[in-house]
Amino acid sequence: MKIRVFTDSRIAVAYAAAIVEHVVEAEHHPTLSLATGETPSALYAQLVEFHRRGLSFTDVTTVNLDEYVGLPKTHAQSYHQYMQEHFFQWIDISKDRIFIPNGYVNNLQNECERYDRILQQHPIDLQILGIGINGHIGFNEPGTAFKPTTHIVGLSEETIRSNARFFNSLNDVPKQAITMGLQPIMQSKQILLMAFGEQKAQAVHLALEGDVQTHVPASILQIHPNVTFILDEAVAKACKLNL
Ligand code: GLP
Repeated sequence: MKIRVFTDSRIAVAYAAAIVEHVVEAEHHPTLSLATGETPSALYAQLVEFHRRGLSFTDVTTVNLDEYVGLPKTHAQSYHQYMQEHFFQWIDISKDRIFIPNGYVNNLQNECERYDRILQQHPIDLQILGIGINGHIGFNEPGTAFKPTTHIVGLSEETIRSNARFFNSLNDVPKQAITMGLQPIMQSKQILLMAFGEQKAQAVHLALEGDVQTHVPASILQIHPNVTFILDEAVAKACKLNL
């Protein structure tokens, strides 16, 4: 486990973007697994900038970690829309190499199975992660057994409250999501987890320094052979990392 602390998130994001670029260029047909939320948005902006300066994504496949249940792909807060707005519309990726679970289907179980088949066909070279304030990764929420495969999850109160900032009201936040399970994440060749700001301190502290436990899904990363936590000073200081 590597921990890299940067003065501010801007420099941290530049570091992460350089690693993404390296993977995109070094691998023949790289698969990137992508996260949504506030944390990775600056990373996508940086990668779009790299694209403008010549980095091509034509050979890249992307899979996404998760999606809300009940939001159509065109909903402003769906993760489909997020990815389009922040990343895909600006780069030269081919549409048929973009995979995101669909939370707007009648048969969610079938959708989980369909997504697992896609993940089996596209082992992940580089996994980008944020972390929830309760230690979730993707939407693998605390408290239940670690789940290896794609599944439907009831979002915790904490997650609903935290994600309400993106919606008009607390009531508008979906109560369920579809998320990649922990197996494809743990089988990724490389993982970058980015966490910025002191509000993530407790989650990061428990993920890094606590036991591996289902109450902190991100703690499972401790047993991955190639994971880097990319932090800003705010989060590192608040969780009193001994660096
Ligand atoms: C979201 C996503 C996660 C993300 C996390 C933190 O709900 N499902 O993939 O890492 O919560 O989001 P943010 O970066 O906005 O704090």
